[in-house]
Amino acid sequence: METSLIILKPDAVQRSLMGRILSRFEDKGLQIVGAKLMQISQELAATHYKDHASKPFYAGLVRFMTSAPVLVLAVRGNGAIAICRSMMGATFGSKAAAGTIRGDYGVSNSFNLIHGSDGPEAAARELGLFFRPGEVLDYPRAVETWVYDHSAGTPE
Ligand code: RTP
Ligand code: MG
Repeated sequence: METSLIILKPDAVQRSLMGRILSRFEDKGLQIVGAKLMQISQELAATHYKDHASKPFYAGLVRFMTSAPVLVLAVRGNGAIAICRSMMGATFGSKAAAGTIRGDYGVSNSFNLIHGSDGPEAAARELGLFFRPGEVLDYPRAVETWVYDHSAGTPE
């Protein structure tokens, strides 16, 4: 099982889209194993987006991400990282396909509603930045045996 770090960005919270976006991950069958409403500090935004520090949009990105509260999620499932990325859609709301979160809920290229880890290394790093030990929970779901086929011993 993989766990992805998802951030519902300030525009998602301000536009009251948290519930609808969270529901998409639940509806898909992914498990929410961590959740935190928080305001991202300057330092945390800089660490999280350090790979973009030299980009022209970096200052605006940090200003946006620290401007209002965000909802941080840990989302788990088989292949959860890639599944979440495909559910998010392309980076720019204006280009994201209909049926994706960015495609359905936004038109802006900077205010694009959601962040998702782009690979296993990024996920491990980002989960460590946003959640303290014990805040991401391992718990059995009652529906687990209907979400995955367990007949071969492992969830398929
Ligand atoms: P994210 O990291 O937030 O999940 O988004 P992403 O992988 O789809 O896009 P990435 O290239 O990592 O860019 C990070 C965030 O920076 C903003 N951005 N603005 N104006 C621009 O050209 C531009 N490019 C990127 C977006 O908020 C993007 O999500
Ligand atoms: Mg990215």
